[in-house]
Amino acid sequence: MRGLKKAFILALCVTAVLGLGGCSSIKSEKRIVRISHAQSETHPEHLGLLKFKEYVEENLGDKYEVQIFPNEILGSAQKAIELTQTGAIDFVVAGTANLETFADIYEVFSMPYLFTSEEAYHEVMGDTDYMNQVYASTDEAGFRVLTWYNAGTRSFYAKKPIHTPEDLKGLKIRVQQSPASVNMVKAFGAAASPMSFGEVYTAIQQGVIDGAENNELALTNNKHGEVAKYYSYNKHQMVPDMLIGNLKFLNGLSSEEREVFEQAALLSTEVEMEEWDKQVEEAKDIAQNQMGVEFIDVDVQAFKDKVSNVQQDMLDDNPDIQELYDHIQKINEKYAKEEE
Ligand code: GCU
Repeated sequence: MRGLKKAFILALCVTAVLGLGGCSSIKSEKRIVRISHAQSETHPEHLGLLKFKEYVEENLGDKYEVQIFPNEILGSAQKAIELTQTGAIDFVVAGTANLETFADIYEVFSMPYLFTSEEAYHEVMGDTDYMNQVYASTDEAGFRVLTWYNAGTRSFYAKKPIHTPEDLKGLKIRVQQSPASVNMVKAFGAAASPMSFGEVYTAIQQGVIDGAENNELALTNNKHGEVAKYYSYNKHQMVPDMLIGNLKFLNGLSSEEREVFEQAALLSTEVEMEEWDKQVEEAKDIAQNQMGVEFIDVDVQAFKDKVSNVQQDMLDDNPDIQELYDHIQKINEKYAKEEE
């Protein structure tokens, strides 16, 4: 698989060096638009991207053909972001954790217990006007977020049961390649092992790590439930995934074309979110009844208490996140009041 990936990336580079624009096809007149993502072909994000493809081709099919590359075929999220940065490919789906090194405002989403309800999370992310200001933060890096995808709520799962934060002590837990995620897992008392998503299954299987943290789809769609049998609902993060586009490509579109790509992105989010809700329910059922995963309800407050200083420490270290953090707090409060 690695060899294949390398060969493909090499081919992309050779095309770029030969001055063929990196992404244009010689045979057809159509501009090939390449999108990379890390999930399987049944994952909500892939289904959302199929909608993106359909809409773009329905409206601009004489000029553009959209090709979707799942399963990290073009490389891990970090690698694929770099390919998008240079324009070797045009779009990538990646979690905000992977964007922290390009624009530190994205660190805010790695804060444990940032959103206090799903409603608040959805309202913040669904406010496109507000989020567009955040999305502009990577312009200097050469790419821009077009839309977000729901990636649910992240919790710990491992080879042995985790009932309390104390059970995390001494465990080696995989985290995304993000400094803020490393700090968060350390604050919980575990040892953090950053690695790409595609490496996690084997790392758990071979005992290189004891577990990881993710949403329920990681158990089924990525098969982690085969190797880690205990999933604890401590719910420490809601981290969105982002559809990211090469800025030169986006700026090179006519205003009508840009409109079509942006509309396609919004439609892809609608499909993704509907699929997400369905698939999470299915994933719980499959994990529990077919894979033998035990879901553990824990005292979430105990986990919150364990990392209660982390939000303030992160705000002290990175003033760039303060404004977005305050905005999120206001929306958190709105939903907290509605519940009273
Ligand atoms: C989820 C998320 C991905 C992320 C992955 C990970 O699957 O949707 O964007 O890369 O978790 O933990 O690496």
